[in-house]
Amino acid sequence: MSEFHSVCKVVDVPAGEARMFSLNQMMVGVFNLGGKFFALDNRCPHAGASLAHGLIEHDTVTCRIHHWKFRINDGICLDDGNQCNAGTYPVRIVGDEVQIKI
Ligand code: FES
Repeated sequence: MSEFHSVCKVVDVPAGEARMFSLNQMMVGVFNLGGKFFALDNRCPHAGASLAHGLIEHDTVTCRIHHWKFRINDGICLDDGNQCNAGTYPVRIVGDEVQIKI
């Protein structure tokens, strides 16, 4: 059964940045876009590089290895002809904690 788990504090992920956290033996990338938080499966669906270490521009993250670009809010890959989207998780803020549902 999926439920929300605390992964970090709000202050742990500055605006416009991302951090990687371990949760239930999974690596999750937490992104802060202007105070709104999103969570992606941190493994790039192409070859597993860290998306939290990608290049964030506006609402997208570009993997640093082969440069696939993903929309952060829904994980959709924006490269033409690419069907491999990044996994996403629901996020909520409770007090000063970022919680993710997995
Ligand atoms: S590992 Fe991310 S684009 Fe190849």
